[in-house]
Amino acid sequence: MMTTSKTQHNHILESQQFTRTWLEKVFFPQANLMRKAIATKGYEGSLVGKSGCLLFYEPSTRTRVSFEQAAAKLGMSFSSTENARDFSSAVKGESLIDTIRVMNALRFDTIILRHFTEGAAQEAASVSTIPVINAGDGKGQHPTQALLDIYTIYHKLGTVDGLTISFVGDLANGRTVRSLAFLLSMFKNITFNFVAPEAFQMRDDILSYLLEKKVSVRLVSRLADVSKESDVVYLTRIQKERTDKRFLKADEAHVKLTAQILESLPKNSILLHPLPRDEAFGELPEEYTNDSRVAIFEQVENGLYTRMALLKLLLA
Ligand code: NCD
Repeated sequence: MMTTSKTQHNHILESQQFTRTWLEKVFFPQANLMRKAIATKGYEGSLVGKSGCLLFYEPSTRTRVSFEQAAAKLGMSFSSTENARDFSSAVKGESLIDTIRVMNALRFDTIILRHFTEGAAQEAASVSTIPVINAGDGKGQHPTQALLDIYTIYHKLGTVDGLTISFVGDLANGRTVRSLAFLLSMFKNITFNFVAPEAFQMRDDILSYLLEKKVSVRLVSRLADVSKESDVVYLTRIQKERTDKRFLKADEAHVKLTAQILESLPKNSILLHPLPRDEAFGELPEEYTNDSRVAIFEQVENGLYTRMALLKLLLA
């Protein structure tokens, strides 16, 4: 149900595998139940006896800890390699697929994988009979971030249909905007503003996907030009580790939140960011953190509920 024919064994690899019906009828209600369980009991406990293996080959704070916390709240045990690039058998020359076979043989119930190579999750899934969850594959995708982002939009605004969403920053190298664009395009009358300097614009694969689906897309170079009409502004940092291209500071590149832009945003709009924000680049200055429209820590909280929901739907 969570899968297409492309993905056997319930792997979570890319956000195109979900459907709108599944999101609205299954996933959002499950995430709401998790919110309620945490609010009332602080614990959910339906996956006692299950275990997960977190294999992280790239830096992460919130995604890894959020999965660990989700697993713990469900009663699962987990094993975590937070710097698999340096501390796993990869250093000794082991291939990714061999590591995945090992985790299958050890009878884990799921593998949560973050890797620096685009396509790594697909590769891992090709040898895994337990679900592989893609927690970020290079410049590829980050489907569980997209699930928490769209749940946050749905929860805050009550609908996704008809929204104008402005994605801002390094859209060429960020994987969160890619996964979220696929998900949002499943809803009706969506308008995308992709706000980035030319060299950092959304890549062609997404643009042609959206064109084919007849989703309205505008390529824009300054956030100030579209802030007035944005229901959701999704800011991102420059992905320094994934590009050699020179990027100006956020203000020089016109992808920074300023007092003027904040002023021009609709009252009931929301501002999102997958975090971490980059203080040096300066896309979302500290001084605006407490504006009522800035929902970045609600996103983190929703990450707990949505990852609990996903684990429960996959493993219960
Ligand atoms: C994002 C990622 O890893 O892609 N972080 C996250 O998981 N929340 C965004 C980023 O690193 O810029």
